[in-house]
Amino acid sequence: MPATIPGIGLTLLVVLALAPGARAADEPPYDGRKKCTSCHKSQYRSWQETGHGRAMQSLAPGEKADAKRKAGLDPDEDYTQNIDCVGCHTTGYGHEGGYDIDDPDKYLVNVTCESCHGPGSEYRLLHRKYGERFEKSGEPTPRAVLAEAGQEFEFAERCNACHMNYEGSPWPGAAEPYTPFTPGVDPKYAFDFEKSLRDDGAMHAHFKLDGTFTGPPVPSFHDEFQSTARPLDEQ
Ligand code: HEC
Ligand code: HEC
Ligand code: HEC
Ligand code: HEC
Repeated sequence: MPATIPGIGLTLLVVLALAPGARAADEPPYDGRKKCTSCHKSQYRSWQETGHGRAMQSLAPGEKADAKRKAGLDPDEDYTQNIDCVGCHTTGYGHEGGYDIDDPDKYLVNVTCESCHGPGSEYRLLHRKYGERFEKSGEPTPRAVLAEAGQEFEFAERCNACHMNYEGSPWPGAAEPYTPFTPGVDPKYAFDFEKSLRDDGAMHAHFKLDGTFTGPPVPSFHDEFQSTARPLDEQ
């Protein structure tokens, strides 16, 4: 009998490790946008001008009063420390290194870099290391090493976690606290990933990459975005 128990234990472990709920525990910690913007200044400047760069402001009293009223919220209430709200208007809320209401870190306020690109404490070190190597020798590095360190290349599930998380959503991951801004409140709140990705009011502009990282995983829209990307700003 004892000989079969380790086998069962191993099977269970494998199943648990693959369960969606278990994924967060494997993620590296969040680090805050300062750790990205020290290098990526062009994307930072552009991001600051987007709705994601100002998401916390929408929780303040008096902001977006008409939209709040329509969704059944009180426009005069301060929602900036409300646990039913901050999760989607900040970065990494509820995850290691992420936004904490009791100890608010200004680099985790708003929907910042890691909300979409994944928690960056490990892969950002690889950007530095392989960026330096590319500069010296021109030798590129497979993107696979970045994905292994927690960098996101699919994006859709990250967007869904905020945009598709409402009561009655077709998205299987939906769980409270939900967004009050549902397609039922106004059809304009329906989320279309392909269209939303190309919304300049919400997404940062794209800048030309040198080719430090190559190969899969690469999103289907990567070549399209790079084909119209701008040169980096003067730093
Ligand atoms: C020490 C500087 C540095 C830091 C810090 C840094 N990066 Fe990078 N990153 C780079 C370099 C260099 C490249 C390669 C750029 C190129 O090929 O033009 C890169 C590439 C990227 C790419 C494109 C990868 C691809 O698909 O080719 C993304 C996205 C990115 N960084 C996001 C981030 C985010 C998010 C953070 C913070 C968590 C971050 N970076 C931190 C230097 C850095
Ligand atoms: C951490 C939560 C979060 C993530 C992740 C997220 N968003 Fe958002 N998004 C928001 C919030 C909050 C707003 C509203 C910002 C404001 O306060 O105006 C928003 C606004 C937008 C808007 C503007 C809607 C409009 O018409 O005004 C678009 C488009 C959008 N997001 C697309 C995306 C896409 C595409 C992704 C994934 C690549 C994504 N978002 C990831 C939370 C998120
Ligand atoms: C599950 C994630 C989530 C939660 C929780 C959440 N929001 Fe949001 N919020 C969003 C997203 C996504 C958008 C962007 C919707 C769009 O424009 O399509 C948004 C947009 C907004 C807007 C701008 C609406 C507009 O039309 O400009 C306000 C204001 C807002 N949220 C306030 C709140 C308040 C107050 C709470 C708490 C009672 C809250 N949110 C909770 C995800 C969330
Ligand atoms: C709402 C989601 C979202 C947020 C927030 C976001 N990005 Fe991006 N970013 C993307 C998408 C989508 C791409 C396109 C990926 C591709 O083409 O492979 C991208 C591409 C990039 C690239 C590659 C070159 C380019 O310009 O296309 C860099 C570098 C980058 N982002 C850095 C950042 C930094 C730094 C921040 C924070 C200041 C940030 N991003 C915030 C979604 C986001």
